[in-house]
Amino acid sequence: MDRIRIKGGRKLHGTIPISGAKNATLPLMIASLLTEETLILDNVPRLADVGQLQRILGNHGVDVMVGGKRPGETPYDGQTLHISAARIVDTTAPYDLVSKMRASFWVIAPLVARMGQARVSMPGGCAIGTRPVDLLIMALERLGADIEIDGGYVIARAKDGLKGGEIDFPKVTVGGTHTALMAASLARGTTVIENAAREPEVKDVADCLNLMGARISGAGTSRVVIEGVSKLSGARHRVLPDRIETGTYAMAVAMAGGDVVLENARADLLQAGLDVLAEAGAEISATNAGIRVKRNGAGIAPVEVVTAPFPGFPTDLQAQLMALMTCAKGTSHITETIFENRFMHVQELVRLGARIRLDGESATIEGVAKLTGAPVMATDLRASVSLVIAALAAEGETMVNRVYHLDRGFERLEDKLSACGAAIERIAG
Ligand code: EPU
Repeated sequence: MDRIRIKGGRKLHGTIPISGAKNATLPLMIASLLTEETLILDNVPRLADVGQLQRILGNHGVDVMVGGKRPGETPYDGQTLHISAARIVDTTAPYDLVSKMRASFWVIAPLVARMGQARVSMPGGCAIGTRPVDLLIMALERLGADIEIDGGYVIARAKDGLKGGEIDFPKVTVGGTHTALMAASLARGTTVIENAAREPEVKDVADCLNLMGARISGAGTSRVVIEGVSKLSGARHRVLPDRIETGTYAMAVAMAGGDVVLENARADLLQAGLDVLAEAGAEISATNAGIRVKRNGAGIAPVEVVTAPFPGFPTDLQAQLMALMTCAKGTSHITETIFENRFMHVQELVRLGARIRLDGESATIEGVAKLTGAPVMATDLRASVSLVIAALAAEGETMVNRVYHLDRGFERLEDKLSACGAAIERIAG
């Protein structure tokens, strides 16, 4: 298993290219199941999760061709995928595949919409909480699917196709909104989704579906209306930049100090996160190239933050913000409202010398004058990267174990940071 070694104390200077968003790429790849024509996706990040989803789609008979490198391309340019689900050979998504990546459960929507049936393993729990799929099932039922749970599998049937309906989510769910959008696009009649997730990745998927011939309006707001069509076609779509990767590197610069341009980043995707960083003392400005983040000399000010669905402060940046606050000049409070158990990073940050007290869904972080390097590990993606952020400012050496979590969602993390002067290297194991 690879590890990452970081020697703290270096400021970051330079440019970090921001990749395409993981959490848009995954549902976009799944949307390819809705059509027999080829869907071309540009700016796809090179991530372990993308490779894993290729294997999962392959099991349904989907052909994924990865475009070759073009002259003049840098290693950071996103890849182009040509995805063809001309013939779906299997409508079952088995446990051993779905359990490796929760988002793969979402194949249930295009499969039942196009094929009239799907049998998909329940994803089970994961490190950040129980993460049920009841709302995804409710959405499919509203569109006329018959649902049966058998042997750990959700079986969805719609012999005569899905039909439009009213879906009112009692809680904002990104995956629920993705699945409702995909299923309703091929349903007969009109579907209205109330309390839809407003995340930019939902809007990106809706934009792509519209290019494929879907008739979706209101995506990016809480009320989305979908006029079903009988068939979708191929399309070419560019994945939007990753706002969580953007926020993560912005916090890394705030932590280590320095001056970095986050190339291709879009401030409008991350206003709540950038506002918190500015409050903490980082200088943030939007430039033609992306977002510039600076912190020279000044200390980090403490903040009070509650995670919330978009446009609120994202849960996917909560761990990284906590790492930053470990060195604030005062006491911060961070409350996690989306996932009940997303504090796996706390004990590891404490190993680096952080002072954090947990009380239910809230963490109190008392800033310390310095962190000290230590061996650490984490059990999920965002928790792992928070340890990298802490290590950039810690005195001495930190060894981050179980790097495969990072590889699921951060493309060439150690290259991007070392190009800006961080002392970071991967040790193959
Ligand atoms: N929920 C239910 N029932 C459901 C579905 C969700 O109770 O049927 C609950 C969840 O347990 C959670 C809340 O609703 O408490 C929100 O969950 P949501 O469905 O929005 O999460 P998700 O779609 O499974 C996506 C991202 C996550 C991100 C969340 C919240 C992808 C592939 N995953 O998950 O990203 O944290 O939205 O923004 O898009 C990550 O990238 O590290 C990651 C975990």
